[in-house]
Amino acid sequence: MPASETSPTGQALEIDKEIAEKNGCNDEMWISLVLMPKPARIFLNCCRSINTSSIETEALEDPKENGRSYHAYREGRYLLPNDDTELQRLDIHHAMMVTALDGELYLAPIGNAPRRVLDLCTGSGIWAMEFADKFPDCEVSGNDLSPTQPKLVPPNLHFFIDDAEADWVYEDKPFDFIHARYLSGAIRDFPRLIRQAFNCTRSGGWVQFADWDSVLYSDDKSTEGTAFESFNRITLTAFAKAGFNMSPGPSLEQWLTETGFINIKAKKFKLPFAPWGKDRKDKRLGINNFHQIDLGIESTAMAILTRYENWSPQDVQIMAAKSRHDARNPDIHGVFDFFRDPGENNFVLKS
Ligand SMILES: C[S@@+](CC[C@H](N)C(=O)[O-])C[C@H]1O[C@@H](n2cnc3c(N)ncnc32)[C@H](O)[C@@H]1O
Repeated sequence: MPASETSPTGQALEIDKEIAEKNGCNDEMWISLVLMPKPARIFLNCCRSINTSSIETEALEDPKENGRSYHAYREGRYLLPNDDTELQRLDIHHAMMVTALDGELYLAPIGNAPRRVLDLCTGSGIWAMEFADKFPDCEVSGNDLSPTQPKLVPPNLHFFIDDAEADWVYEDKPFDFIHARYLSGAIRDFPRLIRQAFNCTRSGGWVQFADWDSVLYSDDKSTEGTAFESFNRITLTAFAKAGFNMSPGPSLEQWLTETGFINIKAKKFKLPFAPWGKDRKDKRLGINNFHQIDLGIESTAMAILTRYENWSPQDVQIMAAKSRHDARNPDIHGVFDFFRDPGENNFVLKS
């Protein structure tokens, strides 16, 4: 095994084999470690998931700030935390997405035998794990800046640390299906990301993008003048100033078309932020949305407002508490729009 190799993002690696051996990495682990980009800290991070020891813990501590932890690799790149509370929120968000798809993990007509699938910015890894369970013969990969995914996963699933905005090097072995969900606030250059996805999807393969318009609104104007509306506007403005797109949903169709995908038809879903909807499905969506928003209000705002806008953590907490209070008010009927591919025959296909 060479001591230098190409990572998924094409970066050269120089791996300290001695540290690997000290940490009990065998050949198989070494192969996956070789795929990890620099710096060595990340390499150690990978080791930690295999064989915890004090030396690794010391080297790998995720940065802590205002009671939350954040990713260590390319520190500061993503502004939401990566701790258990956030992972729990992402799992609730996943439950809401599956409800929105009437119990399905995806809707693209990928057939019964996908061979290679990528879950971009996999988060807690829950989508990738369920997909890998469903297709045990498919090689499933999930990438993320944080190595926070479970250690016990289906044997056909591989998680790795990577920056999805760096150059990809999957062209030689393209995917049958690329899944990209809830990347708002994560990606600065969506058109570039989508071009990379196009280049790494096999001809006739599929991608499925699903994302937010993070602007809060209400049909009956009940959100107007509320603390939640004001906090939502302040937070989104700060993200935009810092170069992050918090509302990629409405632009997905245009970006996918411009990139050369075919069979595209975007659809907008209204996701109520509390269970005041009329039918059963809306109520379920509202319950899940309420819980993930409840957990997410402060975590979404804390780093962007304290690091970029000079807010004190206490002021963020006060505004977050007022917003959570509004979310509990049954007279306030807030909605967020979510965009995804609508149904069979209308999926994003690479010609
Ligand atoms: C909001 S979460 C969504 C997770 C998952 N896609 C889902 O639907 O549950 C966004 C994830 O993107 C990851 N992320 C942010 N920027 C990234 C980047 N440049 N490269 C890889 N992962 C990134 C974060 O660490 C986080 O886990």
